[in-house]
Amino acid sequence: MSYPESHYLSPVWRDGLFNGKVAFITGGNGTICSMQARALVRLGANACIIGRNVEKTDKAAKDIAAVRPGAKVIGIGACDVRNAEHLKNAADRCAKELGGIDFVIAGAAGNFIAPMEGLSTNAFKSVMDIDVLGTFNTIKATLPHILKSKTPRIIYVSATFHYTGLVMQSHVSAAKASVDSLMASVSLEYGPRGVNSNVIAPGAIEGTEGMDRLGGEAAKQPNNSLVKEIPSGRMGTVRNIADATVYLFSEAGDYVNGHALVVDGGGWRRQPAF
Ligand code: HXC
Repeated sequence: MSYPESHYLSPVWRDGLFNGKVAFITGGNGTICSMQARALVRLGANACIIGRNVEKTDKAAKDIAAVRPGAKVIGIGACDVRNAEHLKNAADRCAKELGGIDFVIAGAAGNFIAPMEGLSTNAFKSVMDIDVLGTFNTIKATLPHILKSKTPRIIYVSATFHYTGLVMQSHVSAAKASVDSLMASVSLEYGPRGVNSNVIAPGAIEGTEGMDRLGGEAAKQPNNSLVKEIPSGRMGTVRNIADATVYLFSEAGDYVNGHALVVDGGGWRRQPAF
């Protein structure tokens, strides 16, 4: 699908900012990560989009490539982040075809609303496996490549649920706490080798699959009860997340390492009950 540039990028960034850079993005056909990818590609990067569904991933790669003439965007479908070998093959192919990897976005995630007593062991494990093991596998597969880059950068798309805990989200809260912890360890372990490792924690972002799953139809109504709980008085946009991504990957963010950048209009301080 095509979107106006204003949907995924503020008009404050310099053309060609990411010329020569390559981004590797898991969850890349999702509603947030595909916009992060558009922003990076529009500003000069080439990219590799990782997804589980082949058709959706190919289509997302084509749509993302269309934001800049000459952009190279590879879609690698049938890649499950829970499978270390899938990811290693994908990272190696990305580096071979696009000349390396500079930026990683660990964005693949699983979510559904369920009370604890409605969660089977396998349901809990599925989310932990996608979010935590998937993030570990993503780091492991891409590290050998980004360590050759002059600007190795990792962003993990996390959440704010675990700051307070959240009803119906015990599985996701546990998973995202672990993602934040992986981010911190990578910043300590690989900061000395130039890697910046940071989390972006989105709040309630309109028009996303996550919001559909968590907020349903009610969250689509103007001035809904969720909006009333957000200090900034509105839901976030995918552009807010894409802009934060551009900042962290750009030179402007090069002294930010081991940080969780919350992009939520202050919402987590009044965490809603879904
Ligand atoms: C209880 C559920 C359930 C539900 C699934 N399960 N949905 N349990 N309530 N609503 C259980 C199943 O019964 C099964 O357990 C286990 O979870 C695994 O389900 P599968 O469908 O076999 O697994 P899989 O195909 O791997 O799917 C994983 C998934 C699915 C997480 C369940 O939702 C998924 O693929 N999601 C990916 C896309 C996604 O969630 N995007 C949103 C990201 S948003 P049993 O015991 O029956 O075997 C996000 C939030 C960010 O992360 C924050 C925004 C503010």
